[in-house]
This record gives sequence, C-alpha cells and structure tokens, in this order.
Amino acid sequence: MATMESLIGLVNRIQRACTVLGDHGGGGGGDRGGAALPTLWESLPSVAVVGGQSSGKSSVLESIVGRDFLPRGSGIVTRRPLVLQLHKTESGIQEYAEFLHLPKRRFTDFSMVRNEIQDETDRLTGKSKQISPIPIHLSIFSPNVVNLTLIDLPGLTKVAVEGQPESIVHDIETMVRSYVEKPNCIILAITPANQDIATSDSIKLAREVDPSGERTFGVLTKLDLMDKGTNAIEVLEGRSYRLQHPWVGIVNRSQADINKNVDMIFARRKEREFFATSTEYGHLASKMGSEYLAKLLSKHLESVIRARIPDITSLINKTIDELEAELNHLGRSVAADAGAQLYTILELCRAFDRIFKEHLEGGRPGGAR
Ligand code: GDP
Ligand code: NA
Ligand code: MG
Repeated sequence: MATMESLIGLVNRIQRACTVLGDHGGGGGGDRGGAALPTLWESLPSVAVVGGQSSGKSSVLESIVGRDFLPRGSGIVTRRPLVLQLHKTESGIQEYAEFLHLPKRRFTDFSMVRNEIQDETDRLTGKSKQISPIPIHLSIFSPNVVNLTLIDLPGLTKVAVEGQPESIVHDIETMVRSYVEKPNCIILAITPANQDIATSDSIKLAREVDPSGERTFGVLTKLDLMDKGTNAIEVLEGRSYRLQHPWVGIVNRSQADINKNVDMIFARRKEREFFATSTEYGHLASKMGSEYLAKLLSKHLESVIRARIPDITSLINKTIDELEAELNHLGRSVAADAGAQLYTILELCRAFDRIFKEHLEGGRPGGAR
C-alpha cells in the first residue's frame, strides 16, 4: 500500500512533467503536449505566497525550504512568479536544484540558484523594475523538504515607485489574483506584525477570493519588530480576523542577519527560542514558527488531495486518453524528446491512477486491483 507521502510526491512529479510540456496556470509557455495537461496541473493543489511588498514572503518560503536561495530585500525584488517544487528524496542524497529553463544543469550551490533567479528575471524584464507574469520554474530535490509546490509572487503594492509605470499596481494585483482565485490554490497570506492587520493587502485579497477562509493560512511575520508594549495575541489566537486554519507567527531573519550571512539553522534556532522564551507567546510556542508552518501545510495538502481523489482520478484518466490519442496521432513524426516526455507523463498518470485506486479501496486486505 502506497503511503500518502508517496502520493504527494507523485502529484509533484506530475505537476513537474506537465510543466516541462508547456502551458499552464500563470501564462506563458508553448503549445506542445496534451491539451488536458493545463487542466490537470490546475486541478492539483499548490500553495501561493501572497502579501505586500517586503512583508517577508520570500523569507517565509526560504524558511519552509530550509535553504537560502531567494533574492530578498527592500523594494520589488520578486518580479516574476517563482513556481517552486519541493521533492523529498531519500536521506543521504545531496540536495540540488534544477531550473526548467536549464534542464541540464544541477545546482548544488544555492547562492548560484539565487543569482540565476535574478539573471533569469532580468532576462525577461530588463534591469528595469518591470514585472512579468511568466513564471520561473525551480525544483529542489532534498531529503530535508516536505513535498510541496509553492509559488512566490511579486508583492502587492499601493503606489508605483520611481521608474515604474503607474500600471504596475494593477498589473501585480491581476497577476496575483490569477493564482489565488483558482479553487485549488492554497493561499499563504502574509501580514507583517508591525502593520495593522486591518490594512493587510493579503488578507483583503484572500477574503475576496476565499470568503469562507477554508484555503487561506494567515501568517504573521516580523513578530520581533513590534513596538515594545504591543503584541499580536489577538491576531494569533484568531480574534482579530477569523480563518478556518490557525494563524502562524513567524520570525524570519532581519536585513542585518542577511547582511551578516546568518545561516538557516541558526535562524531557525533563534526563531524557536524567540517563541519558547516569550512571555506573550510562550503558551503558543508549539504552534508557531516556520517548521511548524511547513508541517501544517503538508498535512493540509494531504487532506486536500485525499478529498479530491475521485475528481483527480477522472481527470487523470481523461489525460491518459488524450495522451494516448496524441501519441498515436503523432506516430513516427514526433520528435524523440517530445515523444519521450509525453510517455513520461503517461506513465506517471498510470502510476497515479493505480495508487489512487489503492487509496479508494481503503487498505482492504488483499483488495483487488
Ligand atoms: P518580500 O518582499 O515579501 O519577499 O520580503 P522579503 O522576504 O524579501 O523581506 C523583506 C525584508 O524584511 C528583508 O530585509 C528581511 O530580512 C526582512 N524581514 C522579513 N521577515 C522578517 C522578520 O520576521 N523579522 C525581521 N526582523 N525582518 C524580517
Ligand atoms: Na521585497
Ligand atoms: Mg520577495
């Protein structure tokens, strides 16, 4: 019997295979591959990180991954969506990253990953502060991650800064909205604790696209930067703004920490200590921090996938039919690599279908296939 862990891993692999073949949510891409693939991609859950500029989105993502690899800082640093797929590997295997646009290169030095994200952003947007809706796709293979697809997005903003067109405010919102309005998008709504929750851009948008709050996770960053004498207990205990899921408080690295190259392990330890020793948050310590958030998201993803098994299975079967028809139609004329890619997806879909069926049979001993 397959475990749920391998099921999420399989979802990830299918998403990755769909990606390799071209167009899907968020725009861009080519027209190769099965027509059902974009729908299949969109039917699988992913997590989008949403918030105002410099609210800590990229920092939260890095904490979840447990590696430094994203450009961070003040201003609009994230100018293209980054679709980040985490693949859990067996222990003992060296972590590495791979970009869709550089399929032959394995990155083991994560500072090079950061450079490549910057370069690839500039390649499309120029060195200007323009944004582009065409995503960068990055996969990380590591024994230390949970299987998740996360999407880092440009920050919501209220005013254009110098050098940017006025339209940027609206363009960013449209781009972010195109991700979060999808019913299978889990929204990680980031709000910095040193700002009024009532004015939070992410909560405002999340409330619009997910009024019941069932797919929104509220994340409060910068708890260490609150004014003395104030605290975020009202928010963290769900009294300021109620969501179906509990709020999670986070302490990321400060800009000074980043400048000093404070590493992730140290940062996580500091975060744990912050909560454990806090007079205000001590009673919540076991449900705070980035490690807890990663586990919470993974668990939620499992339950979402489990609940959607029948839907996804029928889509998978439709995709299998289309891929088979397409491969028959292409016949010998198909370019070797495109054909091989279609086959890969076909095989994954079949594996997926098989494992789903096992889950549906609910572990009945000797359940027939
Ligand atoms: P993004 O624009 O939303 O992606 O935000 P970044 O992750 O790039 O962070 C913006 C700035 O805020 C950086 O200088 C971070 O070091 C800083 N920052 C983010 N989260 C925290 C936090 O929890 N505490 C502190 N002190 N600084 C933070
Ligand atoms: Na930023
Ligand atoms: Mg960012």
